[in-house]
Amino acid sequence: METNDFTVFQPQVEGKDLLGLISGYQQANFLYQAFTTGIFECLTNEPQKIEDLAEKMGYQADRTRFFLDALTAMELAVKEGEQYRITPLAKTYLCRDSHFFLGDLLDMQFSIKQGSAWSMMGSWLKGNSTGEGHNPQAIFQASFVRAMAQGVLSDNSIFQTVELISRHPCFAGAKNVLDLGGGHGLFPMALQMKKPDLEITVFDLPQVREVSEEYVKIFEREVYFCPGNFYEDELPGNQDIILAFDILHPVVPAQKEQVFAKAYRALRKGGYLFYKLWFLDESRTKSRRAALFALKCKIINSDSHVYTYREATEMLEKIGFKIEGMLTVGDNASNILVARK
Ligand SMILES: C[S@@+](CC[C@H](N)C(=O)[O-])C[C@H]1O[C@@H](n2cnc3c(N)ncnc32)[C@H](O)[C@@H]1O
Repeated sequence: METNDFTVFQPQVEGKDLLGLISGYQQANFLYQAFTTGIFECLTNEPQKIEDLAEKMGYQADRTRFFLDALTAMELAVKEGEQYRITPLAKTYLCRDSHFFLGDLLDMQFSIKQGSAWSMMGSWLKGNSTGEGHNPQAIFQASFVRAMAQGVLSDNSIFQTVELISRHPCFAGAKNVLDLGGGHGLFPMALQMKKPDLEITVFDLPQVREVSEEYVKIFEREVYFCPGNFYEDELPGNQDIILAFDILHPVVPAQKEQVFAKAYRALRKGGYLFYKLWFLDESRTKSRRAALFALKCKIINSDSHVYTYREATEMLEKIGFKIEGMLTVGDNASNILVARK
């Protein structure tokens, strides 16, 4: 190619977003590796010398300097002369004593399993089998449920969700709320803060009780944890509100329908179901988060199915629900389908 046309260096389409993803991945790897060193338990609000930090960590001081400078560039530490202190960002999200701690979420996202789902994609596309099938007892361990809690605590979605539900006309007269597959139970706990006479039941697998009870203690709430398996057991009845948030991805639509039929039976007449999900749009390509999630679920487990909003409404109408509409939670791409018995 012989040309003096300088515009050959200018792409027709901007690559900024793709480059952002690539460098974001690099930064995310650094963040995770930094987290696993334990440095955020070592940095304090008071500035400390490199030598002191290095000694506490068992590191070489000259190397630790580079590490601390990189943490400073990431706004996880502040450099003051030759000393370093922790930033409020790192203190809030990366220290174990904060209830916004993101450690389990980081561990989950960087686990070998998460990475391998994507690395299996090529093989899966050729028709090879990749998953071991869905095993709820193995997946929904305490660390997974803590990771779920950390996700919703840090992205403001509890606050936004509770604002939306508490403004719904059904809320003022509600007495009993069931959080189906509620895990940590943070959503109804936050609703109870708005309405202290609410009686909350969290229905989830027995092994999840421990995590739910941790949050009951932190937020000083009263919650009844009902251990059970929603594929096998009936749900506690006479509910005014049922929350079904981010559940049932791993199963085929017929099985989802059976669980929602149980939810229908557990509601009193006139009671409301709030079904929150990253619903796909009709083209199944939006939101980006939902489309990637749908693919990843499918690679891991061929029974998984992420609903479009229309598929979900049709399923609920078939059971007998009247669909009232959709509430948009906001930045994290979740929507809440509102349905009445
Ligand atoms: C993705 S988490 C969602 C947790 C919470 N609702 C939220 O929005 O953060 C799915 C929850 O469903 C629960 N779950 C999965 N299978 C279940 C089953 N068969 N019976 C009861 N709960 C189940 C899990 O233990 C987990 O707490």
